[in-house]
Amino acid sequence: MSSMYAVEAIDVHKRFTGKDGEVDAVRGVSLGIERGEVFGFLGPNGAGKSTTVRMLTTLMTITAGRALVGGLDVAGDPHGVRRRIGVALQEAGLDPRQTGRELLVLQGRLFGLSKTDAAARAADLLDLVEMVDAADRRIGGYSGGMKRRLDLASALVHQPDVLFLDAPTTGLDPASRLTVWDEVRRINERGTTVFLTTQYLEEADQLCGRLAIIDGGRIVREGSPSALKSELRARLALDADPTLDEVFMDATGRNRARVAGDVQEV
Ligand SMILES: Nc1ncnc2c1ncn2[C@@H]1O[C@H](COP(=O)(O)OP(=O)(O)OP(=O)(O)O)[C@@H](O)[C@H]1O
Ligand SMILES: [Mg+2]
Repeated sequence: MSSMYAVEAIDVHKRFTGKDGEVDAVRGVSLGIERGEVFGFLGPNGAGKSTTVRMLTTLMTITAGRALVGGLDVAGDPHGVRRRIGVALQEAGLDPRQTGRELLVLQGRLFGLSKTDAAARAADLLDLVEMVDAADRRIGGYSGGMKRRLDLASALVHQPDVLFLDAPTTGLDPASRLTVWDEVRRINERGTTVFLTTQYLEEADQLCGRLAIIDGGRIVREGSPSALKSELRARLALDADPTLDEVFMDATGRNRARVAGDVQEV
């Protein structure tokens, strides 16, 4: 059965079983992301964001439940799903000895493009992520922001319908972060659905039409940034709209005292 959604998760669970026992990292996540959306997936450290992304992108098995990407069943047709998606993971693995252009051309060749087409595609993507000037330098000499942008470009070589970005701006300075935001907008305007995990509430506010907040493996809020703010405003009878940070704190039960007591990565 085909799905009307670009990404659909139906009661998805992930249980890790190891020497130290079991971890229920994802406990029944259901999502429906429409074609053309930029969808944000937020949550504190360890909430289950990367685990969910890994399951949706065929990189990890689904313990229970079902996921469809581009209408294809992730467990039943992983190869089909891989052809339709691009993935830029939290830890990018780029060969420091290659140049940016070499990497993109190689990716294109691996996806079956001719030499000419791979070169043209690389040039187009380098332009999209504003890396033309650095294209023929070795990746080892790139800044963190440049590596992120190249990784973004490499996830787009085969023109995926859905792009999964796991924490694409973590560790970037404010200017590089804004550049990545522009690129995500441009990619989305070209018709690609974007599934974006982020730690940064402002990033979600700026980029995402809709978002979900996950905590302890469960979705605790879902909606547009403005709807989530209005809901909190009405519930707490506030004079003005709260920020998305306040929505996040309310949803995850995290306040300053609790954050100070926990070991929190910033
Ligand atoms: N391979 C694994 N084996 C065992 N437990 C794991 C594994 N990967 C993740 N976990 C656990 O699953 C939970 C969710 O981790 P996950 O990486 O999905 O969180 P996250 O929301 O992406 O966090 P962050 O914001 O830090 O990136 C955590 O408790 C984590 O320790
Ligand atoms: Mg993560």
